Amino acid sequence: MNEPAGLSEFGKRDIASSIHPYTNLRVHESQGPLVITQGDGVYVTDENGKTYLEAMSGLWCVSLGFSQPRLAEAAYRQMMKLPSYHTFAHKANDVGIELAEKLLSMAPAPMSKVFFTNSGSEATDSAVKLVWYYNNALERPKKKKVISRIKAYHGVTVASASLTGLANNHRDFDLPITNIIHTECPHWYRHGQPGETEEDFATRMAQSLEQLILREGADTVAAFIAEPLMGAGGVILPPATYFEKIQAVLKKYDVLLIADEVICAFGRTGNMWGSDTYGLKPDIITCAKALSSGYQPIGAVMVSPLVYDALSRQSAKIGVFSHGFTYSGHPVTSAVALETLKIYEELDIVARVRSLAPRMQNGLRSFSNHPLVGEVRGIGLIGAIELVVEGAGAFLSKRAHHHGVIIRPLGDVIAFCPPLIASENEIDLMLERFSLALEDTRQAFQ
Ligand SMILES: Cc1ncc(COP(=O)(O)O)c(C=O)c1O
Repeated sequence: MNEPAGLSEFGKRDIASSIHPYTNLRVHESQGPLVITQGDGVYVTDENGKTYLEAMSGLWCVSLGFSQPRLAEAAYRQMMKLPSYHTFAHKANDVGIELAEKLLSMAPAPMSKVFFTNSGSEATDSAVKLVWYYNNALERPKKKKVISRIKAYHGVTVASASLTGLANNHRDFDLPITNIIHTECPHWYRHGQPGETEEDFATRMAQSLEQLILREGADTVAAFIAEPLMGAGGVILPPATYFEKIQAVLKKYDVLLIADEVICAFGRTGNMWGSDTYGLKPDIITCAKALSSGYQPIGAVMVSPLVYDALSRQSAKIGVFSHGFTYSGHPVTSAVALETLKIYEELDIVARVRSLAPRMQNGLRSFSNHPLVGEVRGIGLIGAIELVVEGAGAFLSKRAHHHGVIIRPLGDVIAFCPPLIASENEIDLMLERFSLALEDTRQAFQ
């Protein structure tokens, strides 16, 4: 490999040492990384001292910004007291217990127990395993299929990447695995038929799900998994009445609902949970990311009393529930998550999101008539601008870096998900810097 010119010392070491997620590895060998070395509030700084407003909260997770000292102190205190312990075979630690209780008390539907993971992918992957175990407990060995949706994002492990409904997550990874299937993407702007109302579109989506269940055989369909709003697939909001109609179908065929709250939970959509915003009554909930404001790797799966009872019964029959990660309920990640949840409460994070949301949503919608812009969408402090020119997203993202704002191109959809602690001025600055990048893109593409 020829060493590319103009790379920093860290850049050279990075391309010599690392495989990067979601990166064209060959391009990276010549382009190298943007090396971030510091964070402060909603800003991060690269190795050359250039500062960027982080309009994606990293990967949709750093809700409290990049310099919350209480989270660092919580980690340090816990490290000094009990830096590591596991939860296998009847062991527990005090902070893990407290965190489980806290999550159960906050849940958007009655939940019985919490299982901890290290990530969102492990949470959705575990949810699939729990659904299979549940149906074995109920002596329904055929009822194992999990229905996800085209454009869904549920992670990258073998099962969770199978749930993910994006072609590149399957291609050449030999996925999806058996028993995971996909129904339609409920994006009215893209897939609504001429003259079809949002409600009629939602009805059609529910009918399509019902047809899929009937085609597969209701006795083979175990669960349906959905993000309340689809994040990484392009910030796609459910059409009006969608979840009401979908849940009626699930109920009819005794299909569990898994709400993947990995992006939506903890205030992002203007309620504590996306399930509250869109009226989901899940049997299983997964969360991660903002659970620790992204400061520690932690995820969780919550299960309803009905699901838990079956798991418990089956483990009694077998003699053990053989699932769990070395770091499930890790004391340091748990301590940081507990402190994060405490801070959300003190800041009244939901009220804060609701008060800031109009500023961001109106600001995004002010680009609606721009010649490059198709649909503008969003809720709370998450939003997206869909560009109408193919290939413009990557270009715009680079220009945004130039103007000092980090946004995420999901193809030609530009996502916005700023830290929830952003000030009004910082929301304005995000929009202002984005508008400079959009204008550069217009000039380049027209
Ligand atoms: C809805 C959803 N589920 C699951 C995941 C996977 O989480 P992780 O990257 O922590 O494995 C993500 C990540 O973006 C997500 O957005």
